[in-house]
Amino acid sequence: APGVAPVVYGQADRPPRGDYSRASDDYTCAQDYDAYTEADHDTYRRLYERQSALLPGLASQHFIDALPSLGAKDRIPRFEEVNERLRRATGWEIVGVPGLIPEVPFFSLLANRKFPVTDWIRKPEEFEYIVEPDVFHDLFGHVPLLFNPVIADYIQAYGQGGLKAAELGACEMLSRLYWYTIEFGLIREQGGLRAYGAGILSSSGELNYSVRSPEPQRLPLSLERAMRTLYKIDSYQHTYFVIDDLQQLFDLTAADFEPLYRQLRDQPTVAADALLPGEVAL
Ligand code: PHE
Ligand code: FE
Repeated sequence: APGVAPVVYGQADRPPRGDYSRASDDYTCAQDYDAYTEADHDTYRRLYERQSALLPGLASQHFIDALPSLGAKDRIPRFEEVNERLRRATGWEIVGVPGLIPEVPFFSLLANRKFPVTDWIRKPEEFEYIVEPDVFHDLFGHVPLLFNPVIADYIQAYGQGGLKAAELGACEMLSRLYWYTIEFGLIREQGGLRAYGAGILSSSGELNYSVRSPEPQRLPLSLERAMRTLYKIDSYQHTYFVIDDLQQLFDLTAADFEPLYRQLRDQPTVAADALLPGEVAL
């Protein structure tokens, strides 16, 4: 496959780690299960153990309920085993990739209910923090909510919308929405604020920070606002957007975005930490 342009997560300042010569034209590759060492499985086990202990009171109940569907906690799951359950639950499947992939192939996979999962795992010294998504972020962070029917349909619709956005030159705006929902979204639940975004759910520090810290600002999700807002890829977020329930996310994004893209194109972007006149943080 050709080179890689990690656009969805913003431009990384170093070349991606994965070996893209393993990938086919659609950027997918078989999970190289035999390549995992015992140390790799141990890294996964320790990440899973720590992260799952942090979830109560911070993670969305939708996520907590779905997490056991991932399967193995003590080793990196085989993608095929996850898929047996996932296909039955929502018709989604996960496919291996060497790392971040360009936006159009990414959108095409999502539009076909295929979620790309990086197959390699971070090194032990990256236990606390890794710049690129690895198998722990992709599996633990993203895959449980693919078992949820509302999110399952939302992410497919996002993929279809992405293909359209690519034709309209609007990928950047749409990627910001992905960032502030699928990656860093917060949701109101019975017990209070909770996280449903994968970037939060797979981070030990940001989970508590995003939900409890008085530092960041939290705003009700607005498409226009999220699509204009720049984001940080190398620090905790300064702004989080909150939804009332998953159905709200689905309903908000149901309309055709083309008029919105046209309207937003003439508006300035908003800094990651800006509060606009008239806005009140939650
Ligand atoms: N409705 C959007 C469009 O017409 C597509 C979309 C769906 C985007 C779901 C995000 C999430 O472009
Ligand atoms: Fe992610």
